[in-house]
Order: sequence, then C-alpha cells, then structure tokens
Amino acid sequence: MSYHNPVLLEESVRQLAIKPDGIYVDATFGGGGHSGKILEALGEKGRLFAFDTDVEAQANAIADNRFVLIPENFRFIKRFLRLYGVKKVDGILADLGVSSHQFDSSQRGFSTRFEGQLDMRMNQENSLSAYEVINTYDETKLADVLYQYGDLRSSRALARSIVKARTEKKLKSTFDLKSAIQQYLPKGRENKVMAQVFQAIRIEVNQELEVLKEFLLQVPDLLNKKGRLSVISYHSLEDRLVKRFIRNGLFEGEPERDMYGNFQVPLRKVGKLIVPGKEEIKNNNRARSAKLRIAEKI
Ligand SMILES: C[S@@+](CC[C@H](N)C(=O)[O-])C[C@H]1O[C@@H](n2cnc3c(N)ncnc32)[C@H](O)[C@@H]1O
Repeated sequence: MSYHNPVLLEESVRQLAIKPDGIYVDATFGGGGHSGKILEALGEKGRLFAFDTDVEAQANAIADNRFVLIPENFRFIKRFLRLYGVKKVDGILADLGVSSHQFDSSQRGFSTRFEGQLDMRMNQENSLSAYEVINTYDETKLADVLYQYGDLRSSRALARSIVKARTEKKLKSTFDLKSAIQQYLPKGRENKVMAQVFQAIRIEVNQELEVLKEFLLQVPDLLNKKGRLSVISYHSLEDRLVKRFIRNGLFEGEPERDMYGNFQVPLRKVGKLIVPGKEEIKNNNRARSAKLRIAEKI
C-alpha cells in the first residue's frame, strides 16, 4: 500500500505560482507527494525545505540536492529555517492532519478500525498520548475535548462512560475505548460518532489547533512580497482558523485600521475556497472533507 495518496495535488501546488529559482516550504511532507510536485516546478537554483514531525516520514526523503527534510514540528518553522540561513521564502504549503500511512498503522492507534495502543501521537517522542488523555483527564476536561474538537453533543455522557470504565481497569487499546462508549453511540451512526471521538482525542494529543495558530502567525513574516500560502485542511475548526487568519491576520476580533481607516492585514485572499471534485473523492475517500485556501503576502 502506498504511504499517502496526495489530495488536491495539482491545484494546491499550481496556486503557489512557483518561481523556478524561489525558496519553498512543504510544512507537512508525509509521503512527499506535494514536495515532488513542487520540485518538478522548481529550476536548478530553486530550493525546497520540508517539515514532518513523524520520524517514519523520513524514509520518504527525496534524494535531490535542492531538497532538505527537517524532522521537526512546523510550529517551529521560523526557528528551523533560520538554521539553514533562510529568513524569507516564496511559498508555503501545508496539508494538515494525518497521513494514510499513520492512519492505517494499527499500532499507532489513529483508526477505529484496528486494535492498537491508545497512542495517536504524530511525534512519538511527545509525552502526551491518547492513553494519558483517556486515563488521566478528569470528566469535565474529557467532555470539553469531545465537545470542542469532536462536535459531540453527547460529550458528557461519553466522558462519563470513559471515566466509569477506567475506574475498573485502565483503557489501553483502541478497542478498550470503543467498548467503553459502545452503548452511548446512536444507532445507525456508530461509526461516524466513533470516528468523531477518535478525531477529538487526536486533535488534543497533538495540540493541532494551537500548533496551527503558532504556524500561521509566523507565515506573514516569512513570506516575501507576493509569496503564497496554500493550506489544505480537513476539519471545520482548522478551516475556520485558516479562513480568519487569511482575512484578518488574526483568529479573533477585527484587525487594526491604518490612518486612512483601512484594515491592516498582512495577507490577501487569492480566489475562492477550493474543494476536490467528485472524481477525486471517488478515487480517494480521504479527499472528501478537504478544503484548500490560498493567500498572498501583500
Ligand atoms: C496529510 S499528511 C501530508 C501528506 C503529504 N502532503 C503527501 O503528499 O504525502 C500530513 C503529514 O504532516 C505531518 N504533520 C502533521 N502535523 C505536523 C506538524 N505540526 N509539524 C510537522 N509535521 C506535521 C504528519 O506527520 C503527516 O505526515
């Protein structure tokens, strides 16, 4: 099975409007589908820096002297680019979330389909795993995670059932978690709700929204004038952060106005929201929730 089937590949890279001798960043390398496409568009003098926090992605590193894979979290994008003497870039692509490889590795615990440890860490050196979230968070905190990140209306009942089950015996595997909440799943929607529970825990374990915010806040400073940002998200909370940041340069409230009363924003939205077509979704189920947004540095 392939590592990952890239989503919105043509469109997300085309929208970077690549300059052959420019410097680009792929913040989420994974199987390197997007990186490969960016390299195709770059000339001999172009450079591509890719990030991935998962050590398993390193096996896909591309042997090309224009390419560097940085095995770090993109929340530290500026700091690590500086180590390579890079302060400004011409485009940044981020294809958020987990790869098919991570999702389909049973022992990583991302998927409801396989029995595996309650892990869900993208970077296995991080201390917080799904095991800690499930076995140590108090009931209120657990319910908040399920409600905020999983949009689960039954979050309180679900949290209560997890706490009840774990007082008898610690929940160690994905199937332990499934059986703890089985009876609270609405008939006919069991799989969907279960997937929402897993997704909420994953977002908490990897601090995905915090990390995304930290990353986005560094983007305007990193981009050269007219440099592009291309972001693919798979969750409405991520998409909302990206959309607001592109519009306002902020996540909450309104930007400041300049002396003429115009809003001061660092980025300009390019085109409309892009989603995969029917054909792509038919061929790649993971594309179904993808949303691509593009911005340009003013
Ligand atoms: C959806 S996959 C990207 C797939 C890639 N575009 C491709 O074509 O193969 C997301 C990848 O980003 C990585 N990732 C997720 N969050 C990250 C973060 N905060 N910092 C660095 N890498 C991250 C994951 O480990 C995963 O390999």
